Amino acid sequence: MKIATASDHAGYSEKEEVKKLLTSLGHEVVDCGTESGESVDYPDYAAKAAEKVSSGECEQAVMLCGTGIGMAMTANKFRGVRAAVCYSEFSTEMARRHNNANALCLGARSLSMDQIRRYVDIFLKTPFEGGRHLRRINKIHEHEK
Ligand code: RB5
Repeated sequence: MKIATASDHAGYSEKEEVKKLLTSLGHEVVDCGTESGESVDYPDYAAKAAEKVSSGECEQAVMLCGTGIGMAMTANKFRGVRAAVCYSEFSTEMARRHNNANALCLGARSLSMDQIRRYVDIFLKTPFEGGRHLRRINKIHEHEK
């Protein structure tokens, strides 16, 4: 899969680890920054990765900031993007199974690196169930203004 990555300064070092993990699993990474731990504004980087998903250039995105929240708020402004802040194995699995999330947003200040690796792995390997859930996610996009 072609996967976009993005973070602000709070998630920079964890993003670099996630890039290594994705590459080792055979995925193609399109890194949308940031490039260091220097303070930046998270919407600038979330927008770059969300645009890659919205345009179809990337199938999924993994985004990290302090909490994952700012990345998700920004990414969900983009047509076709379903970004989920995942905080447990269960929420990560359900974000894929029921919500067909295409952007995984994680909190670098609220999760350990082991949890981040685990949630990325779950996100990548869990399929969307479709059926009634497809009707529901279609309704999300019907509400796009
Ligand atoms: C940066 O200090 C922090 O506000 C940011 O990483 C993020 O948590 C915002 O949602």
